[in-house]
Amino acid sequence: MKIRVGVFFGGKSVEHEVSVISALQAIASIPADKYEVIPVYITKENEFYTGFECSCIEEYSNIPALIKKSTRCTLMNNEGRVQLMRYPFRKTGSNVISDIDVAFPIVHGTNVEDGTLQGYLKLTGVPYVGCDVTASAVGMDKYVMKTVLKDNGIPVLDCVRFISSDFSEPENVLDRCEEKIGYPVVVKPVNLGSSVGISLAENREELYNSLEDAFRYATVVLVEKAITNLVEINCSVIGNTDTAEASELEQPISFGKILDYTAKYQKGKVTEEEAKAFKEGIDEIVNNPLSIENTLKNDSSIIVSPDGRYVKKGEGIVKYDYSTELTRFDGAKLSRINLSRPAKAAAGMASLSRLIPPNMTEETRAYIRSLAVKAYTVLGCNGLSRIDFMIDKSTNKVYLNEINTIPGSLSFYLWAPLGVKYSVVLDAMIQLALRRSREEEAIEFSFESDILRNFAAKGAKGAKGSKTGGAKSGSKL
Ligand SMILES: Nc1ncnc2c1ncn2[C@@H]1O[C@H](COP(=O)(O)OP(=O)(O)O)[C@@H](O)[C@H]1O
Ligand SMILES: [Mg+2]
Repeated sequence: MKIRVGVFFGGKSVEHEVSVISALQAIASIPADKYEVIPVYITKENEFYTGFECSCIEEYSNIPALIKKSTRCTLMNNEGRVQLMRYPFRKTGSNVISDIDVAFPIVHGTNVEDGTLQGYLKLTGVPYVGCDVTASAVGMDKYVMKTVLKDNGIPVLDCVRFISSDFSEPENVLDRCEEKIGYPVVVKPVNLGSSVGISLAENREELYNSLEDAFRYATVVLVEKAITNLVEINCSVIGNTDTAEASELEQPISFGKILDYTAKYQKGKVTEEEAKAFKEGIDEIVNNPLSIENTLKNDSSIIVSPDGRYVKKGEGIVKYDYSTELTRFDGAKLSRINLSRPAKAAAGMASLSRLIPPNMTEETRAYIRSLAVKAYTVLGCNGLSRIDFMIDKSTNKVYLNEINTIPGSLSFYLWAPLGVKYSVVLDAMIQLALRRSREEEAIEFSFESDILRNFAAKGAKGAKGSKTGGAKSGSKL
């Protein structure tokens, strides 16, 4: 019998739409011979819906219509079996839609990825893929995450943290930033994504404005040194904490992001000159020979954009069909992709957004990959995450910037260069979840039965806190 996988996606998050895309990509690639997929779409109002239509991307252009066609549902533990139930319950007939053997959360952002959905799944008793509640919550809070990493010797930028009430005395806050960090600084909410509320400040007045802006989106913000000569590098890690492995690296060079960033920083429009300089920068990256040995038959000319399009030097843009499995980016693989629709150069620039692998020495690559694995381990991650780094090109220092515990597209494109198909990544993630669940069950089972035995032997009085042995075992809870 196939393993029934409930894929949960959407939710009350600004990254709702991205989650739908990530989830439907994954649903199309979960090996059908081994798993039966049950899609569970969480609306922005936190209602759950299931049904065939929930796995069809075109249905999401009209969500009210999709909801009408789908079945509202809820997850329940019925005598040890976790089941997706029709809701509201019908008076006659079965309300069970399907048993769920393992849940696969593919959600991004606050209210879902931050341990919220993981906690809900844990409470129902269903094994779930990916980071547990703690790792998800720590990963979402940039300040807490930095603190844990720093304590484990992983390089992060120093920062100061403020809560909104601190800002009632802004002069103190500004003084503290100047004393501890110095300009230029980056101000960011601790728990948001997609650059929301993030800005650069080069003097006291700008810092005040940046803080005011960040506090519009969050009650906790941090201020850290801005890296002005920045290269960003991302790495995915797969495994449980004891078996983590790093993927290939990527250098995001998103056109839109840099423009947004520049536009935001300068609080004005990007000039034609800046756009030209950026385009030249991209050309240089594309044309630069890679200094590290490439596992892809030394083909250094392939770039992948976030929507899965490849750019191959001299061939323009090619559209990648998600139903086609990734094997390797070699000649045979590329021939399976539709090469008949090369786009114009301008469109190519707009979507040209990542370089895999980046242009760096093998030593730096190995260092970053080892840092990624170490961070994954100390943060207690499971399943798969993407870890983002910043390199200060003026000093060549590498800093870990943040972890994405459920990255967009589950960063499948970082595994393909190592010869790992997306279906293999998904299979591994599900199997890791089942393994963790078996391990946890073993621990919890013996732990709980001991407590109950103690309570039963010593009586309810002990549990209320008298100075008996019962109070001691009670306090251990
Ligand atoms: N200290 C910094 N110096 C320079 N640029 C930064 C710094 N911190 C963040 N950025 C830029 O802002 C982007 C978003 O910041 P990040 O911390 O990754 O937040 P998010 O969770 O929104 O992705 C980064 O990808 C990087 O381009
Ligand atoms: Mg980021």
